[in-house]
Amino acid sequence: MKIRFIDLFCGIGGFRYAMEGAAKSNNLETECVLSSDIDADCQKAYKENFGDDPVGDIQKIPSGLIPDHDILLAGFPCQPFSIIGSRKGFEDARGTLFFEIARILEGKKPKMFVLENVKLLAGHNNGKTLSRILEVLRGLGYFVDFKILNALDFGLPQRRERIFIVGLRGPGNFSWPHEKIPMKALSQLLEKKIPKKFFASKYIREKRNAMVEPTSEPTIWHENKSGHVSAYPYSCALRAGASYNYLLVNGERRLTPREMLRLQGFPDAFRIVCNDSQTRKQAGNSLPVPVAEAVIKELLVTFKFGVAANQAFKNRTNPSLNGQMILFEKSGRYGKNTKAKNRRKIQTPIPA
Ligand SMILES: C[S@@+](CC[C@H](N)C(=O)[O-])C[C@H]1O[C@@H](n2cnc3c(N)ncnc32)[C@H](O)[C@@H]1O
Repeated sequence: MKIRFIDLFCGIGGFRYAMEGAAKSNNLETECVLSSDIDADCQKAYKENFGDDPVGDIQKIPSGLIPDHDILLAGFPCQPFSIIGSRKGFEDARGTLFFEIARILEGKKPKMFVLENVKLLAGHNNGKTLSRILEVLRGLGYFVDFKILNALDFGLPQRRERIFIVGLRGPGNFSWPHEKIPMKALSQLLEKKIPKKFFASKYIREKRNAMVEPTSEPTIWHENKSGHVSAYPYSCALRAGASYNYLLVNGERRLTPREMLRLQGFPDAFRIVCNDSQTRKQAGNSLPVPVAEAVIKELLVTFKFGVAANQAFKNRTNPSLNGQMILFEKSGRYGKNTKAKNRRKIQTPIPA
């Protein structure tokens, strides 16, 4: 069986690795029928690694030109919701990119979707932003659920909490991944030969060394906004911009682009074709691959068995109801009379 998927806001393909990995472990084939990213460097890296040329601005692609697909994947831009953004949410033009997802779901009606964004989305505007997103998705006929997952629980030495939103076009058993995978030691991810350019100045190193006791195992030193420095055997969430200055391996050097990619769970087979600063930005913008892979793996149980999914779920060898979510919640219509903040109308809801 082959699953066709689209990779929206594809960046450098974190979701694609996750999709392909999850499908492989379910003995399913995949075909990416459309990828999209507006950024020329991301397009270049994606093409080099996956052989596909992502289309540019998704706002310019009519749904009619998007091939049919089973699963829609989208790590939509997070600036409007994140702590580094304006906190304006949907009022910020970039926030409205979520409505591009809604438009495509409405036009193409894929069986499932997985969306990813920053944790802050959950609490943004007292939860109203997320409620609105869920309302729109449910109004489009999807059974929807969300959960915040931390990369630290999926084997990566990175404390990165992200919200995942999943949707199914019909009721089905879906269990959020709950088995915790022990964190890899940093020493397994760090490169051995580090070019000089990654080392912080003598002044910064001495200043840091005066603040933290050295450890025998490698640590990443985090400097917070108020200048306090702490050392952990993991990294805090990589970000597109700021990580470079505030995360120092053993208090002395910055992470290399390859190390940042490893912290997101990218395989070393990923070819780096952009310069250091672009690759750092891409890695910081990407998603923790094993987390997305675990979520998609669970979804594929439903995909693979269709209506028999409930039975398949019960028959799984080691079923645990811990964290299980049954996606039957469906409320709120989003139709003819409802206008999005950006004034673009989403048409009649799909009948349930
Ligand atoms: C949070 S990143 C997603 C990264 C991706 N999940 C990955 O694994 O690398 C959001 C991406 O959306 C892209 N983007 C922003 N506006 C866009 C638009 N109008 N059309 C297509 N892509 C867009 C950005 O260039 C960025 O790469």
